[in-house]
Amino acid sequence: MKAFVVDKYNKNGALRLAEMPEPDLQDNDVLIEIHAAAVNPLDSKIKSGEFKLILPYRMPLILGHDVAGTIVRIGPKVRKFKAGDNVYARPRDGRIGTFAEFIAVDEADVALKPRNLSMEEAASLPLVGLTAWQTLVESANLKKGQKVFIQAGSGGVGAIAIQLAKHLGATVATTAGAANFDLVKSLGADIVVDYRKQDFEKILTGYDVVLNSQDAKTLAKSVHVLKPGGKLISISGPPDPEFAKQRRLNVMLKLVLRFLSRGIRAKARRLGITYSFHFMWAQGNQLSKITSLVESGTIRPVVDRVFPFEAANEALAYVEEGRAKGKVVIKVR
Ligand SMILES: NC(=O)c1ccc[n+]([C@@H]2O[C@H](COP(=O)([O-])OP(=O)(O)OC[C@H]3O[C@@H](n4cnc5c(N)ncnc54)[C@H](OP(=O)(O)O)[C@@H]3O)[C@@H](O)[C@H]2O)c1
Repeated sequence: MKAFVVDKYNKNGALRLAEMPEPDLQDNDVLIEIHAAAVNPLDSKIKSGEFKLILPYRMPLILGHDVAGTIVRIGPKVRKFKAGDNVYARPRDGRIGTFAEFIAVDEADVALKPRNLSMEEAASLPLVGLTAWQTLVESANLKKGQKVFIQAGSGGVGAIAIQLAKHLGATVATTAGAANFDLVKSLGADIVVDYRKQDFEKILTGYDVVLNSQDAKTLAKSVHVLKPGGKLISISGPPDPEFAKQRRLNVMLKLVLRFLSRGIRAKARRLGITYSFHFMWAQGNQLSKITSLVESGTIRPVVDRVFPFEAANEALAYVEEGRAKGKVVIKVR
């Protein structure tokens, strides 16, 4: 099968279009014929080697974390799916590889594709949808009447997180550039701060939750938005000791992560708020809940551009520019 692979960690080199063997099917796997894949900043970070200590991969590595497609074969222990089902997934870490014609995915990571979406729209959802769900529902336990600040509302994560937070009944503030104000308002944002002209930390106060997805400076400012008892949840680092424990990282890495996060953890403690880092994980059951929210019209995908399969490198470069409005998708078939 055709696939786009990384041969060795590098920041600037292109992915290579390679002929790779079709994936082997394990007992709990479904084999998905890929129709569409989405691109995430995580793909670039893995390609550059930024994640190699936490997520070590063997080369050549087929890149890609989001898939929508049709099941063509199932393993002997698969119970929930059958050949012919249209599905989508964020395959688990260690078993990624959606920039290809086929992928084998554990059925526990898979959900039925929302019936009202095209394959391209569906592929745009799993990683960012699960990130929004796991941070806002699981980590933050966001409730009706609470206030949440979701950074970068026009980005892949932000566009879904705003809609989910509104569904949960929260008041939502976000940051965006002026050109994206209409987009984030249409997704439900109540308060929009122009990140190029205004200081959000001077405008937003008394928040229950902040979803941080930007740099260390933005993270440091975010503590001032929260009220005592508030929750600062970061998906862009620094990873904390709890993450090191969950991932069963070695002692050395545990120490490094404790060191990297000590500043923000101490600052949070002083202000009576909590800091946590979240790294999303594959979860088919949660993805099914997102399917329901999409089918009921509560959440809609936001797709900026769709690139043809041959242009996977251009799609990745476009995401690396950091200006995408919602998601960037690769049409495989
Ligand atoms: N830990 C996890 O599980 C996890 C999961 C998903 C994502 N992430 C991380 O979260 C970050 C965001 O991911 P993403 O997929 O949402 O990124 P993305 O879609 O590539 O973000 C691009 C968007 O961000 C906006 N933006 C850029 N700088 C901004 C700023 N300072 N303030 C407000 N908006 C800004 C851009 O708008 P303009 O064009 O107007 O600048 C653009 O619309 C990445 O670092 C990613 O790796 C982590």
